[in-house]
Amino acid sequence: MVERIGVLGAGYVGLTSAACFAAMGHQVSAVDIDAAKIARLDAGEVDLAEPGLAGLVAEGTRAGTLAFGTGLDALAGRELVFLCLPTPPGEDGAPDLGPFRDALRRLGRILSPGTVLVTKSTVPVGTAGRLPGFLGRADLPVVSNPEFLREGHAVHDFRHPDRVVVGADPPDSPAACRVAQLYAPTGADVVRTSSASAELAKYASNGFLAVKASYANAVAELCEQYAADIREVSAVMGLDPRIGPHFLAPGPGWGGSCLPKDTSALLQAADAAGVEFSLLRDAVRANARQRARMVRAIRSAATGSPDGSLDGVRIGVLGLAFKAGTADLRESPAVAVAAELARRGAEVTAYDPAVRSDADGYLVVDDPYLVAKDAAALAVLTEWPEFRDLDWRRLAAAADRPVVVDTRNVLDPFAVAEAGFARVGVGTPMEVPDACSRPRLHPQALAGPLQQRSDRPAAARPVRRAGGDRRTGPGRRP
Ligand code: UGA
Repeated sequence: MVERIGVLGAGYVGLTSAACFAAMGHQVSAVDIDAAKIARLDAGEVDLAEPGLAGLVAEGTRAGTLAFGTGLDALAGRELVFLCLPTPPGEDGAPDLGPFRDALRRLGRILSPGTVLVTKSTVPVGTAGRLPGFLGRADLPVVSNPEFLREGHAVHDFRHPDRVVVGADPPDSPAACRVAQLYAPTGADVVRTSSASAELAKYASNGFLAVKASYANAVAELCEQYAADIREVSAVMGLDPRIGPHFLAPGPGWGGSCLPKDTSALLQAADAAGVEFSLLRDAVRANARQRARMVRAIRSAATGSPDGSLDGVRIGVLGLAFKAGTADLRESPAVAVAAELARRGAEVTAYDPAVRSDADGYLVVDDPYLVAKDAAALAVLTEWPEFRDLDWRRLAAAADRPVVVDTRNVLDPFAVAEAGFARVGVGTPMEVPDACSRPRLHPQALAGPLQQRSDRPAAARPVRRAGGDRRTGPGRRP
């Protein structure tokens, strides 16, 4: 059955949903207050780097199933209206529902009786029950349909969801059935819940991902202390279906526009309800520590000491986006690390395949080889696969000291070692090139740049620090 669908908000969630529903044959009208964005969409320009999205938008516009507008009036007469507005964190960490509430007040005046309002935005638990108050009317059925789209994979995730959640009170209301029916072409399991469960499931999922990634970062730190390799440890863990292989990669910390915002909202909700959620709080704190740990590792690699002065020290950064496959810099750990190095006096030059804009305190260049020029250390901060394929010999020739801190473990250890680089990973043994041109895993060097802790458990047998041999230590030219 063809539905007349309205979508409010044309960000990556709204635009992806609009384009995918249009591709399923529904009549979709997407509205956004950003007139410039709507003008670009009307001209066929999609400024989100979502694979497949531009094609779907062009197809929908051509077929007449997808139209854009700036006025809410375009949503009048729609049978289902999806709310895809941002809910950024307010000062106390709870989502700021101001723009959401304002839009609903205006929507309440124009929607026809019976229109189903579907919330895709991530909203505090209990918001569904407050919608009639926001709308100023109680005759519109309300459904919660949180999204689980990853940036950079939004179209794929929409079309091949691992689950679709449709929440309503009661869960089997006619409006909920109608929304669930929309997803039939995806073949996904539709989980029918109460509104509160649907709203909480979204936060709980992102919160769990944050805990899992922080857990992997903590295990990676243990690996460094005990000469284990996080790549092997997480491969073993991931084979247990109760754990699963995803979100076990260490890095400079988790970021983006969702996990930081949603963990803080979940903690705020827990506080408001008097629930002690120390597990999540610790994961958030550990995430801040992880960024600081990466700064120390890079500082150590560049100066030979975790406390070395960074004044005037040149550091080349590869990657600024919060993850590969996106140009998004929001809450990017890479940006935080680069900015902190610059704040401490380092001369930071950065390259990211998707980012061209300059940033506060450091220079962004459009050539990866420029970042290596006279650098005392390189740091890979985003896991772009193309970094593996750089000409590492050329980078080594340009650098002052061929040492690279690979915070995402994305580089080919053999290739970089053969090019003459000492590579410091996260939770992996340090690889130092040797005369045989095969990388040698230096268990002793492990304790160099990344070792910060002096409070190791006495009973265990941690790897000993390499000592202060500055001629052969990490970061020195071999
Ligand atoms: C996240 C969720 O994964 C989506 O399911 C959800 O729909 C979305 O938020 C949202 O709420 O809208 P996204 O923000 O696109 O998606 O990013 P993720 O792919 O989840 O990555 C988040 C952060 O975790 C990134 O900084 C990434 O580098 C980091 N990460 C990921 C790790 O540090 N380790 C890992 O193993 C995986």
